[in-house]
Amino acid sequence: MTNRKTIATEPYSDQKPGTSGLRKKVRLFQQAHYLENFVQSIFDATDTGVDSASDKILVLGGDGRFYNIEALQTIIRMAAANGFKRVIAGQNGLLSTPAASCIIRKYHAFGGIILSASHNPGGPEADFGIKFNGANGGPASEELTDAIFRQSLEIAQYHIVETEDIDLARTGSQQLGDMRIEVVDPVTDYAELMQQLFDFERIRALLTGGTFSMRFDGMNAITGPYAHRILEQQLGAPPGSVMRGQPMPDFGGEHPDPNLAHATDLQRRMTGGDAADFGAASDGDGDRNMILGANFYVTPSDSLAVLAANASLVPGYSDGLSGVARSMPTSQAVDRVAAALGIPCFETPTGWKFFGNLLDAGQITLCGEESFGTGSDHVREKDGLWAVLFWLNVLAARGESVADIMQQHWRRYGRDYYTRHDYEAVASDSAQSLIEALRQKIDSLAGQRLGNYEIELADDFSYTDPVDGSSSRQQGLRILMRDGARIIYRLSGTGTEGATLRVYIEGHETDPALQNEDPQQALAELIGLASQLAEIEHYTGRSAADVVT
Ligand code: G1P
Ligand code: ZN
Repeated sequence: MTNRKTIATEPYSDQKPGTSGLRKKVRLFQQAHYLENFVQSIFDATDTGVDSASDKILVLGGDGRFYNIEALQTIIRMAAANGFKRVIAGQNGLLSTPAASCIIRKYHAFGGIILSASHNPGGPEADFGIKFNGANGGPASEELTDAIFRQSLEIAQYHIVETEDIDLARTGSQQLGDMRIEVVDPVTDYAELMQQLFDFERIRALLTGGTFSMRFDGMNAITGPYAHRILEQQLGAPPGSVMRGQPMPDFGGEHPDPNLAHATDLQRRMTGGDAADFGAASDGDGDRNMILGANFYVTPSDSLAVLAANASLVPGYSDGLSGVARSMPTSQAVDRVAAALGIPCFETPTGWKFFGNLLDAGQITLCGEESFGTGSDHVREKDGLWAVLFWLNVLAARGESVADIMQQHWRRYGRDYYTRHDYEAVASDSAQSLIEALRQKIDSLAGQRLGNYEIELADDFSYTDPVDGSSSRQQGLRILMRDGARIIYRLSGTGTEGATLRVYIEGHETDPALQNEDPQQALAELIGLASQLAEIEHYTGRSAADVVT
C-alpha cells in the first residue's frame, strides 16, 4: 500500500494494563503517539506482523464515550497498515463489550479491540480505555497483557495508513487498500444469540400480560440500543420501559455504574407503593448489571446464586451446569447452590479474564463477580443484558416476585449478608503501606480470636489455573472465620486516580427470622473489626468508606 507509513516513536512507561485493559484519563490518551504505541504493542505482542495477519479478522468497537470514534479511526488505519485483511466494526464505532465478544466468536476473528473504561465517567476530563480480547472472545490473559506491556516499553515505531476518515455511520462494506471494512449493526448478532438462550415467547407473555412492569436503565451508555431493540421491540415491553437509552459521549455527565449510588432515578421508580415489579441497569460498556425487585435490592453475589439455582428453567441451560465459578471476593452464596447441585465451584482472582480457561475447557457454565458482573459460556465477557433476560425468564417461569424468589432462596441456603466498602482516591503509597503491613502479619492471624469470631485461615490469595497451570499471586488478603464469615482486602486495578482500597465483608445467616436485616447492621461487628485490623483510618486518614455497596 503506497500510503503506508512507518512512524518513529518513543515508549511511554505507563502502559501496563490493569484488571481490564489500559485505562487512563482521556488527555493521557491524547498525548502524541500514546494510543498508537499501545495499539502497535498489541499487534506486536500478538504477532500480527504484516505477513501473519492476512485473513485474520479484527473486531472493533467501543462504548461510545468521548474519544471513541477518533481512536477507532486511528486503529482502523493501523490495522490496515499492519496487514489485517478484514475489520468488523460496530456502526458509529459502537459495540457493547459482550456484543464484541459475541461477534469475535461468531465470525472466528483473530480478536478484537474494545474501547471502553467500563463504568468510569466519560468526557474530555474523564476516562478512556482500550483492551484486547483474543479469539475466544475473552480478555487477554495476564501473560499476554504482560507481553503487551513489555512491547510498549521497547516500541520504536508503528505502522499506519494515511487516509481520510472512514465512514462508520452506515452499515456495509468498504475497502481500505487491501483491507475490507465491514460496518455492522451493533445489536443484530447479539440479539440472535439471546434468542437462542432464552424463552422469548414466555418473556413476551410476561411483559405484555398487563400485570407485570419493568424498568431498564441504560445509564446514557451503550446498552440503550440493545435494550430498546430486545426488551421493547422484540419482547414487547411498553415504550418507556427503557430509561436513559441513548448513548452519550459523556453519559450525560453521570457515572454509568449500575449500583444504588448511581442509578438513583431507577431506584426511585423501584421504591414505594407504585414500584415496578422488576428493575435493572447496565454500565458504560454493557457488561455489568444491577437487579432490583419492587422495594428489593438483589446483591450481585445473590443474583449469581439464584441464576445457578434456577438455570433448569431457562432453555439455554436446561441440560444442567457443568460447574460454576466466582471471583474470590464474591460471596459464597453460589458455592452453596453448587454443593446442592453436586457440581464444582471454582474460586478465581478478581477480573473476568480468570474465567476464560474454565469456560473454554467446559468446566463451568455460569460465573460471576460481586462487582455487578454475571455471565456464562455464551460469550467470554460478563454480560449485563443477558443477566436481565435470565432473570426475566426465571420470573416468567416461576410467576413469583423477585422478593419471594430471594426469600425462598435464603430459607433454603441461608443468607450471605454482604457489603463492600471502598476508600477511593487514597494516596497510592499509603494504600500500599496498609496492604504491606497487613501482609506482614497475615500468616500469624490463624487461630486468633477477633471479637466474637475465630480466625480459621488468613492468607494472601493465590490461584493456580486448573486448565493451564499458570499461577497468580497476591490477589487479595483474606481472613476467613470459623463460622464462614470473611473479610477481604484488595486494591483496585481499574482506577485512574490514586488507589482505591476495597474491603469486602460477608457473614452467613441460616435463621430465617434473622434474614431480613440491613446488611450494614447485620455485619456491623465485622465492619468494625475490618477497619481496626487493617488500621484503615491510620493509613488513609478516612474514618468511613466513600462508597458502600
Ligand atoms: C473492578 C471489579 C472487578 C471487575 C473489574 C472490571 O476491578 O472489582 O470485579 O472485574 O472492575 O469490570 P477492580 O477495580 O476491583 O480491580
Ligand atoms: Zn463494564
